[in-house]
Amino acid sequence: MSVLPDDLRELPRALAARGWEARVVATTGSTNDDARAWAATHAEGRLIVVADAQDHGRGRHGRAWSSPSGASLALSVVLRPALPPARLPVIALLAGLAARRAIAVRVPAVLLKWPNDVVVEAQDGLRKLAGVLVESSLSGTRVDHVVVGVGVNVARASFPPELEGRATSLAMLGAEGPALDRGALVIDLLEALEDELAVHLAHPGELPSRIAEHDALLGVEVAIDGQARGVADGIAEDGRLRVRTDTGAIVLAAAGEVTLTAARGRRSR
Ligand code: BTN
Repeated sequence: MSVLPDDLRELPRALAARGWEARVVATTGSTNDDARAWAATHAEGRLIVVADAQDHGRGRHGRAWSSPSGASLALSVVLRPALPPARLPVIALLAGLAARRAIAVRVPAVLLKWPNDVVVEAQDGLRKLAGVLVESSLSGTRVDHVVVGVGVNVARASFPPELEGRATSLAMLGAEGPALDRGALVIDLLEALEDELAVHLAHPGELPSRIAEHDALLGVEVAIDGQARGVADGIAEDGRLRVRTDTGAIVLAAAGEVTLTAARGRRSR
């Protein structure tokens, strides 16, 4: 087995000490695939897969997600939330809130872009720092488990042409030294995820206000692929995006591809 890089070497011990069953590997295809296969044969426990690099990392909408060695964080957690299937869309938002929180202690002004992205605002628009891919497994009408995959651009210094100008990394935003330690980032992210889940289960009605504090889309003109067009007006309790149309009506959009249609209308921060 290949040797783990320095910043991931102590992670298996740190995760075990916190009660996680962990696989921390140098390279794999996709940590989401590994976590899903593991969950299928291991019905209990808090499972996490972390990789230094993935060669078949997957993003939303069937896109590839690039995770080069030493430069990015790829992790997948298996959750067994006590939620009905209809409420599963909130899991991606809770994971996004957790990733945002863990990243925000390393670089300033980090926001959540519904439904799954952690971003910062640059002069020419939003740049993505991290993405979340949630894949659920149902047993009849019940949620058996959910795989929450998070990819973070940590020490990347550049991106391929198709991502140039749309992505950024902790290092590109000025983080250095311990702020780029991926082991510490995993621990912070897991603690934030468990906290967000617990708060949500105890107070589901607070989700809209928890997101509003960090909402990159609030007041922005958006189009959600074929579903809605208007000004983003926050998140509904079930995790859908509220969009105020030209007529003043509120349309609720389920997870989809968001296009920012104008810089006009963006709230001031
Ligand atoms: C997106 O923004 O499209 C979601 C990206 C999710 C990437 C992460 S990296 C860890 C996990 N394994 C994968 O194959 N994908 C997710």
